[in-house]
Amino acid sequence: MLDLLPLTAEIADGQLSIGGMAASRLAEEHGTPLVVYCEETIRAQARAYRAAAPGASIVYGTKAFANVALLRVLAEEGVGADVSTLGELAFAREAGLDGGRILFHGNNKSDDELRAAAEAGATVVLDAPDEPARAAAAGVGRVLVRLTPGVEAVTHQSIQTAHDESKFGLAPDAALAAIAEARALGMDVAGIHFHVGSQLARVEESLVAVDRLVAFCARAGVELGWTPQVLDIGGGLGIKYTRDEHVPEIADFVPPLVARLPAGVQVVLEPGRSLVGRAGVTLYRVGVVKDSGGVSYVAVDGGMSDNPRPQLYGARYEALLANRADELPDGVFRIAGKHCESGDVLIDAIALPHPRRGDLLAVPATGAYTLAMASTYNGVPNPAAVLVAGGVARLVRARQPVADLLRFER
Ligand SMILES: Cc1ncc(COP(=O)(O)O)c(C=O)c1O
Repeated sequence: MLDLLPLTAEIADGQLSIGGMAASRLAEEHGTPLVVYCEETIRAQARAYRAAAPGASIVYGTKAFANVALLRVLAEEGVGADVSTLGELAFAREAGLDGGRILFHGNNKSDDELRAAAEAGATVVLDAPDEPARAAAAGVGRVLVRLTPGVEAVTHQSIQTAHDESKFGLAPDAALAAIAEARALGMDVAGIHFHVGSQLARVEESLVAVDRLVAFCARAGVELGWTPQVLDIGGGLGIKYTRDEHVPEIADFVPPLVARLPAGVQVVLEPGRSLVGRAGVTLYRVGVVKDSGGVSYVAVDGGMSDNPRPQLYGARYEALLANRADELPDGVFRIAGKHCESGDVLIDAIALPHPRRGDLLAVPATGAYTLAMASTYNGVPNPAAVLVAGGVARLVRARQPVADLLRFER
């Protein structure tokens, strides 16, 4: 279990602690559900990327969790931001990132988004045939072109992004046309981007994509007399959610990809999940415990509103009782949320010491695409998040008050 938890996680006297803070104390002080982020884990992951690809530019896939404090920690580690909406751009700007460290993505950018990216001085990743003209009109100066390399990542189909039918990117012919048009419009076409998909547990498809990217660049050289200065090979490396899962280390996944790129090019990497996923642990308070038709239900005070991944992707998680972490399991339980759907199940079956009302359930590997995808379904406000390090917890996302839900009612 420890290899699913943040690097600073410890279990002593049955109590889980993270960053030197007891989970039970964090829950008492900040309430539950609570997402606890370990600063050391985030910094270690950023450093692992820097070590795996020296000289590469690393930008955080902000969609994994847009948070100003996390973006600042990452910026201190030399990591910029990949954003894809006005909102994500606002988080990056609030964190103090200047346009030189921001990439603006999106398969359907609005004119407002293009103008905001231009004003910020961000590099825009062109993703549609009409975007060179729209970006130029918006005042964008520097662009990459997103290539669809036509590879099918081995991952959930909702997070495959480089197959032929993908809504993202441009097929080679269209990408060549976009490069030519963007150059003719006076923009600095710095290079090419691709992103294979997310939660990748193997490198093979990414290697194929890199080879296709290199072949595409050769073609652009012949047909357009243009050579990229920047090659952005996206993010995608997965994390371990369960003990039986295997994912490569950053040090094993990244170097073979970078090694296939032409020498002298500026490499860009866009990790999201693998920077913050393992760093996050969600703490829930156990409420109702009951048997139903032979299933032992344990209901917690959150669910699909703070983590919709089980419903979206059939995601599997593990869990432990943070206040009784040294007790042996004596049953198998289904962890349900508090929402009005039978499908609001966080974990279908997990062995635990028989949970009791008031226990604290910790769910590891919930730092990416969880709170970021939160809703207020059933009028449940979004939980708080804290960043812990060296025995200190800093509130980095306040708990949303119920009054906030009524703020926009008319
Ligand atoms: C263009 C782009 N870059 C980077 C990422 C980050 O991906 P991941 O969180 O899997 O590393 C994504 C997410 O899907 C993306 O669409």
